Amino acid sequence: MQIATAWPNGLRKILIAGICILPLASFGAVSLAQEVTPEIEQRSDSLDVPFVPSHGNVLAAMFDFARPTKDDFLIDLGSGDGRIVIGAAKAFGTKGFGVDLNEGLVRVAQQRAEREGVASLARFEVRDLYETDFKSATILTMYLLPEIVQELRPKLLAELRPGTRIVSHDYHLGEWRPDASRLVDISERPDRPENSIIYFWVVPARAAGEWLWAIDYPRDSNDPIEYGASIMQTFQDIEGSLSVFPSQGRIRDASLVGTRIAFTADIEVSERIVRHEFVGEIDGDRITGTVKLSGGVMPITLPWTAQRAKAAQ
Ligand SMILES: C[S@@+](CC[C@H](N)C(=O)[O-])C[C@H]1O[C@@H](n2cnc3c(N)ncnc32)[C@H](O)[C@@H]1O
Repeated sequence: MQIATAWPNGLRKILIAGICILPLASFGAVSLAQEVTPEIEQRSDSLDVPFVPSHGNVLAAMFDFARPTKDDFLIDLGSGDGRIVIGAAKAFGTKGFGVDLNEGLVRVAQQRAEREGVASLARFEVRDLYETDFKSATILTMYLLPEIVQELRPKLLAELRPGTRIVSHDYHLGEWRPDASRLVDISERPDRPENSIIYFWVVPARAAGEWLWAIDYPRDSNDPIEYGASIMQTFQDIEGSLSVFPSQGRIRDASLVGTRIAFTADIEVSERIVRHEFVGEIDGDRITGTVKLSGGVMPITLPWTAQRAKAAQ
């Protein structure tokens, strides 16, 4: 296995010290040393990513970000001894699927799932993560190597549905800024501080393009007012402008979390500067939500439905 000297922390540190078996702090205290034999470890060493189990504190932080429920489906890429999928099944009743190329580890994970009484929820398969279909996931977890995590980014964006939560142990997705991150203490000895970093993303809906809608102002005898918005998007970051002929203004306080979009614009409508606060859910080429109007008009909240007229190039 190639061990790049540029690896930031976690896996590299552990590899230098030799593959070590970390105890589980809170999610299922099982003696892994009895289950993961040296042969299984060696087999894992020859893969793209070695087997280094996530510490119990890391699992707790991952679940804190992802908030699994019984309605979720969790996929762990490179599931090792199955602790993430089994932990979510036991603690939250979440269905899950773990893939790993190491047959020995898949067997260990299946046996643990049986023993912990969650075999009907937690499934494991010998499978290459690159050949795994991510579409069914609502939560995707991974503890891989930095190059692999970044290489996976296009596949994640192409296959995962908007709103899916991604949690990565130690490695980030490059230019795709995390929505949140957290340092987790995994020190086994007080004189040897050690941390892992947990990164969290929510897959954003496609918001970019030209959007059109009309708002029917109550107590206004005129026809509905026609709006246009031009939105540019870089992952979950959006910016753009709003126009109500002949006025135009920049949108601000814009946010996109999964399918939920929100932005504000102050723009002249019928010779009054009106504050517009839009909040809605993107479903394909349609947004459904509300707009709160204030400023030049009596504050009022109205329904808002927008249609994408043109997708971004
Ligand atoms: C660092 S361990 C993480 C184990 C577990 N997800 C956890 O956090 O405790 C990475 C795992 O990825 C597996 N692996 C490496 N390359 C793989 C590939 N191409 N497809 C599937 N699994 C792979 C290894 O066998 C190893 O078990």
